[in-house]
Amino acid sequence: MTAEQDIETLDAAAAEAELARLAGLLGAANRAYHAEDAPEISDAEYDALKRRNAAIEARFPALKRPDSPSDQVGAAPAEGFGKVAHEVRMLSLGNAFAAEEVVEFDARIRRYLGLGPEAPLAYTAEPKIDGLSLSVRYEGGQLVRGATRGDGEIGEDVTGNVRTVADIPDRLEGAPEVLEVRGEIYMSHADFAALNARQAEAGGKVFANPRNAAAGSLRQLDAEITRSRPLRFFAYAWGTTSEPLADTQSGALARLKALGFRTNPETTLAEGPAALIARYDDIAARRAELGYDIDGVVYKVDDLALQARLGFRSTTPRWAIAHKFPAETAWTRLLGIDINVGRTGALSPIARLEPVTVGGVVVSNATLHNEDYIAGRASDGMPIRGGADLRIGDRVEVYRAGDVIPKLRDVDLSARPPDATPFAFPEACPDCGSPATREPGESVRRCTGGLICPAQRVARLKHLVSRGALDVDGLGDKEVERFHELGWVRAPADIFTLQARHGSGLQTVANLEGWGETSAANLFSAIEAARSQPLAKVLFALGIRHLGEVAGRDLARHFQGWDAFAAAVDAAAPAAARHRVAEEAVLAERAQAAEEGRRARISEARAAAWAEVPEAARAAWDDLTGIDGIGATLALALCDAMSSEQERRAIDALVAELDISAPEKVAEASPVAGKTIVFTGTLERMTRAEAKARAEALGAKVSGSVSAKTDLVVAGPGAGSKGAKAEALGIEMIDEDGWLALIGA
Ligand code: IVH
Repeated sequence: MTAEQDIETLDAAAAEAELARLAGLLGAANRAYHAEDAPEISDAEYDALKRRNAAIEARFPALKRPDSPSDQVGAAPAEGFGKVAHEVRMLSLGNAFAAEEVVEFDARIRRYLGLGPEAPLAYTAEPKIDGLSLSVRYEGGQLVRGATRGDGEIGEDVTGNVRTVADIPDRLEGAPEVLEVRGEIYMSHADFAALNARQAEAGGKVFANPRNAAAGSLRQLDAEITRSRPLRFFAYAWGTTSEPLADTQSGALARLKALGFRTNPETTLAEGPAALIARYDDIAARRAELGYDIDGVVYKVDDLALQARLGFRSTTPRWAIAHKFPAETAWTRLLGIDINVGRTGALSPIARLEPVTVGGVVVSNATLHNEDYIAGRASDGMPIRGGADLRIGDRVEVYRAGDVIPKLRDVDLSARPPDATPFAFPEACPDCGSPATREPGESVRRCTGGLICPAQRVARLKHLVSRGALDVDGLGDKEVERFHELGWVRAPADIFTLQARHGSGLQTVANLEGWGETSAANLFSAIEAARSQPLAKVLFALGIRHLGEVAGRDLARHFQGWDAFAAAVDAAAPAAARHRVAEEAVLAERAQAAEEGRRARISEARAAAWAEVPEAARAAWDDLTGIDGIGATLALALCDAMSSEQERRAIDALVAELDISAPEKVAEASPVAGKTIVFTGTLERMTRAEAKARAEALGAKVSGSVSAKTDLVVAGPGAGSKGAKAEALGIEMIDEDGWLALIGA
C-alpha cells in the first residue's frame, strides 16, 4: 500500500481521488472475501481502509460516492464523535487583568465566607495552560472514557484518541473506584515547531499556534493520527470522585501526581493577594522559558471545604480566578467598516483590517462595538482614545486576549490619510432598509424591522438550532443561510415542517449541491430528535433579548411548563407597557425637580403612572419580576416579544411543533425544594450571599421581597418591614438557627 496522506491535508480533488481509490480497494476486498472466499487483506487493514474512507467523507460530505463503501455491509461509518454528558459540569474561570481585581477577588471571598481581612486564607497559584480542557474517567483504576469540555455539560467522546496520549495513564493503582481527572491537553513549543515542519514538508496543513495544533490533533476521527501527534497533559482538577482525593487543592494535586499524572511543577501555595501577585510577576517573567504557551496564572482557594461553601456562579467557580496576561497587540490598517445585523436587530460594526499577526494568529477583522465607539466616545459619553474617531484608512492598533474577538486599542492620528472622512453610521438597516434607531440610554442602534428583516430572521434561525439552543446536528450557519435563501425555512417552525414539505418532492434537500440521500436523512433524523426539548432550552432558543441560558433555566425552574410561562407573561403584559411609562415619568420628574431645585417625588410619579393598571396585571408583573434572576429589563423583553402579533405567531407555531419537557426538580428530597424563601435582617453564621446560594442549591427560590407567594421568611435581628409584612400575611418565619436546622447544616 502506498503511504497515505493525512486526511486533514487533502484538498477536494485529492479527496475525490482517494475516495475512488478506497472504493476500488474495498470493493475488491469485499468481492475477494464474500464472493471468492479468498481474503486478500487482513481484517485490521480492511477496517483501517473503511475508517479512512469514513473520515474523508466526514470532511467532504459532498464528495461521498453513490457507491460509497460506508453504505455497504460492515460496521456503521464513523459519525463524528459521540456525545458525553458530564456528571459534574466542566466550568470555565472568571478573569482578572489588573492587580486590583485580584485584591477584589480575595476580598469578595472573605466577604462571602464572613472572614476578616487578617484571617489566614491560602490559595494555590499555577500557570494557566493555553490548550483545551479534557476530562478522563477511571473506573476500578481503568481508563474508560475521555471527553472534551464541549459546552460544559455535554462534550465529545474522544476515548480512543485519549488512549494514545502518553501522559494519560491507562491504569491507576490505588485510585478511588470512580475518578474523573481533568486537565489541559497542550503541545510544547518544540513539538509544535517540529510538527509544523513535518506538515509543511508533506504539503500538509500548518497550524497557527500550539493550541490549534493540540485541538486539531485531539479531534481526529482516526486515533492513529492522534497517536502520531505529540500531545501532552497536565492534570489540575477533577470531576466525579467516589471518595475525596484530599482536604486541599494542593493535597489533591499531590495525590494525582502520585497516581501517575503530570501536574504543573510551577504550582505553589500563597497567602493573600500580594503573594499571589508576586507569584504572577515571577511566572510572567519566565513565561518564554516554560516551553509551552500559558495565558495567565490561576488562583484557587486551597481548602476544599471552603471551595464547597463558596460554590459556583452560573458558569464559573467563586473560589478560583484566572489572572490573565495582558493581550498581545499589533498595528495595521483599517480597510473598511462592515455592519452586521444581529438576532435582536443590533447593528454591529466590524473593522476589516489588513491582515496582521497578533500573538501567532492572523487577524483580519475586529469588533468596533457600536457607533459611539467609532466616534471616540464611551457609553457614558466620556472620550476614549483621547476622543479620536476611527476613519477608513487609519493606522490602528489591534489586540486579542485569549479566544475573544480581536479589538482595537488605539489609532495613530499622525498616519491618517489627508482625505479620510468621519464614518457615517447608517440610520437605516443595511439589510432591510427599515429605520435603525437608538433607545434613550442605549449605545446600540437597532433595526426596527423585526421578523421582516432577513438578517434578523436568519440570525435568529441560526441561534435557534445552535448548540446551546435546540442543537440540531447538521444544521449549521451555512445550511440555515442556504435554506433561507431558497425560501424553504423562513420562520422557526419551518425547520420542523421541512421534511413534510420537501422530504420527497422534487425540491428535496438530497438534491441540493453538497447533499445526498444519507446526509439529508441524517438531517431529518436530527430535526426529529430536536423536537423533544427541555423548557429551558426552548426559552433560550427563542432568541428573545436578555434571555440567556441562565435566565432560561431560572424561568423553566419557576414555571415548569410552557403554558404556565406563556400565561404568566400574558398576564403581566398590560403592566409592562405601564412600567415603561412609569420609568419615563420618573425621569421626567427627576429633570423637573432638578430644574425647580426641589427633591424629586419619585414614588409619587411612579404610583401615578401605575394607578390605572388593573390589580391582576400588577400582581402578575410583580410575580414575574420577583423570580430570582429575572429583572424588569428581561420581563419587559418577554412581554414585548410575547405580545407582538408577528412574533407571537412565530413562537406559537414553533411551540406547536415541539415536545417540551419540564425540568427535573432539583433536590426533590430537600425540605425547601420548590419553596420561595426571603432572607431578611442580619445573618450571623453565614453571609446573605452564601445563604442564598445554599438555598438555591437545595432547589428553593430566593426572593428579595415578601409577597403572598412567599413560603418562608428567615429573619435575623433587625428584620424590619419585611418581617412585619410576613407577619401580616401569616407567612412562616424562622430565625437563622431554625434555618440551619431545617437544611441540616
Ligand atoms: S481550573 C473549575 N486550572 O482555563 C475550574 N483551568 O478559562 C476549572 N485552564 O476551562 C478550571 N489551565 O481549560 C484550571 N491550571 C488550570 C488551568 C485551567 C488552563 C483552562 C481550562 C478552563 C479554562 C478557563
